Amino acid sequence: MAALDKVFTARGSPNIALIKYWGKRDEKLVLPWNSSLSITLADDVVNTTTSIVFSKKLTEDRLFIDGKREDLKNKDIEERLWIIEKMRNDADVDAGFLVASKNNFPASSGMASSASGIATLVTAANAALGSGLSKKELSMIARQGSGSACRSIFGGIVEWHVGSRKDGSDSYAEQMFDEKYWPEIIDIIAITSSEKKKVPSRAGMRQTVETNPLFQSRAASAEKRVEKAIIAYKERDFGALAELIMADSNEMHALMMGTRPSIRYLNSASYEIMEAIEELNREAGENIAAYTFDAGPNAHIITQEEFKDEILWALKEMKGKIMETRVAGQGSGPSLLRGDSLIDLARMAPK
Ligand code: PMV
Repeated sequence: MAALDKVFTARGSPNIALIKYWGKRDEKLVLPWNSSLSITLADDVVNTTTSIVFSKKLTEDRLFIDGKREDLKNKDIEERLWIIEKMRNDADVDAGFLVASKNNFPASSGMASSASGIATLVTAANAALGSGLSKKELSMIARQGSGSACRSIFGGIVEWHVGSRKDGSDSYAEQMFDEKYWPEIIDIIAITSSEKKKVPSRAGMRQTVETNPLFQSRAASAEKRVEKAIIAYKERDFGALAELIMADSNEMHALMMGTRPSIRYLNSASYEIMEAIEELNREAGENIAAYTFDAGPNAHIITQEEFKDEILWALKEMKGKIMETRVAGQGSGPSLLRGDSLIDLARMAPK
């Protein structure tokens, strides 16, 4: 049963892809060309909080992100938010919704704010609408809002299965290892820019599939890397895992660059970070860290707790190039909060 006029709030976190997804075989259902693998980050460091209320008093649906009212007719928003309309229809609820969402990191700069935004949104909506959907089912809904969001439904290490069915019913996220399996694995996030992405990932992926024939071979190699990365993770073989992570990030950015018109998300600080990490690995005589970049210039440095200080020190040396660093462990996925609502019910407005 849906609970009208009651606020439901979920907190969750972004995930960082170790083996990435870039390109869709079905744009509407958001079906990828290859499987991908990610780490869900701990929500004490990077998080999104999303509150939702369904009410007959709301004559129109409203969305606020970081306090700013968003235009629901904006294509980028519309392409994501229809999943809530679908959940509402499926639950047979005839009421408007008000959503307020807040990130504690810069949105839309390759820090996967859409992933944590969508994952928390469907988690809160599932509770508000009384839909009773499983996490697997929620991952398939989240996927249609933003591909990588399906992986933020779970904690730890998560695989998004490519699937082969046309209706997308076998393209879902699954937890491969929980956050306690190898807890020493952390992500050092180095923020090199807080600018909004130049090319939204949706448009960028379409451009790549349409203009860069190399995307087929990249999808095949990424698929193999997912399998290998799972084996490396299972064996806690950091050296092998790091090789796969760096190779995959570099391959994805090369693919983007070869797209017409060329898409380049990295900045000069991103390249300096890549060189600094490779230098650290050379000096250590083994891989102690791996860099990876999503659709933006901010670095995610995957490493083990014992090397944290050494890496932070190397980043400090790059004075002025890095705006901020954050160290995130692994998280357990979105959870419903009892308090912390972002909505003022009396005013039907964000707090
Ligand atoms: O979730 P989307 O559709 O915005 O795509 C994000 C894709 C990358 O972050 C670049 C890679 C990934 O697998 O997360």
